[in-house]
Amino acid sequence: MVVRQRHPPLTPFVMAEPSPSGVSPYPPPRYAGATRVAWLALRRLIGWALPVALAVAAAAAGALLLGYPTPAATATTTLCLAGVVAPRSYPRAVGHRGAEGVAPENTLPALTAGAAAVGIVETDVTVSADGTAWLFHDETLDAQSNGTGRPCAATDAVLGGVRVAGGAAYGLANVTASLTRLAPALTAVGGGVDWMLDVKTCGWPGGPPPAGTLPAGVTTADAPADPDGCVACPALVGAIADALDAAGTSLDAVVFTSTQPSALAAVRSRWPAAATVLSRDAKAVLRPLRSLLTDFAPWTGGALEWRLAVARPDLVAALTARPGGRVYGWTVRGGGAWRAVGCAGGGWGITSFPNRVAGWKAEAK
Ligand SMILES: *[C@@H]1O[C@H](CO)[C@@H](O)[C@H](O)[C@H]1NC(C)=O
Ligand SMILES: *[C@@H]1O[C@H](CO)[C@@H](O)[C@H](O)[C@H]1NC(C)=O
Repeated sequence: MVVRQRHPPLTPFVMAEPSPSGVSPYPPPRYAGATRVAWLALRRLIGWALPVALAVAAAAAGALLLGYPTPAATATTTLCLAGVVAPRSYPRAVGHRGAEGVAPENTLPALTAGAAAVGIVETDVTVSADGTAWLFHDETLDAQSNGTGRPCAATDAVLGGVRVAGGAAYGLANVTASLTRLAPALTAVGGGVDWMLDVKTCGWPGGPPPAGTLPAGVTTADAPADPDGCVACPALVGAIADALDAAGTSLDAVVFTSTQPSALAAVRSRWPAAATVLSRDAKAVLRPLRSLLTDFAPWTGGALEWRLAVARPDLVAALTARPGGRVYGWTVRGGGAWRAVGCAGGGWGITSFPNRVAGWKAEAK
């Protein structure tokens, strides 16, 4: 077997011969004692500490000028995420779609479970072709229920027969519950509960729907040039108002949220003082603070995908610093994400498992 030599042979190291005179062959150090210690420290400082400090200062100045988190803010969040320091406060929990980890999303069993666990539930509101507010998240019924087509194109009679499927990811693949209207949900869940209503507009991806399949008062002429525009919002906001009246729910117990500014604008035109929260996902992470704050300026606060909140402590701080400013983190599916929302400075965590929050709190202690 041939053993290959992987390195050239080492040159033998020759020790300097002790000089017969006892005098060192090397030049004496330039400084001695304390002066030498100070000199070495200064050289080290010039060697790396100064460039590092300058880079940090440049990053901080750039962050402040351009609108990104400062190194200090990022470091604080990172230390908290690493468990070195505790969050300033742990977020209050909001049940996501009621409690989608417990029962089929946005149905009475989920809303009841979420309200019982944490007293605040988030749910998605859409409008039927009869102008009634129903609770459903998706653009169409197909994926999450045994119905088909857009809920906003269906009559109340059809929606009344639809069963919503539980999420397979939550071990609820074989569980279903009735699609529910907003008014009976408000009544059934009871007083003392706060609601976050996510306004789901009746858009039409894939082109305008056939005539005769739209809510009362909406025509294809209402199709907005802006694809983010809100089509049936006046009808939907009217339907929500009817449900709040029917259940005797105070507007003080309701926060409205949407990804669509036009939906929040429709809410505000009905109730100028309504709490309105704009939702943004992690795709916004690279946008400068100033541009983000322009989006959020008209609204009460932000609902941020929790990773966005963690990555942008500057945005969270700016939103919470405003009078009455609120920051919600979504969607929290475990104790780590719940804690991370706290590390980011968010006041509320919207969670699939409101029933587990007490356990996360106990672990955090
Ligand atoms: C959905 O399922 C329920 C219960 O099984 C049934 O009564 C209803 O007719 C179904 N709806 C549709 C649209 O298939
Ligand atoms: C649950 O649903 C899945 C998919 O629909 C099916 O394959 C499975 O057999 C069901 N399990 C039970 C226990 O009914």
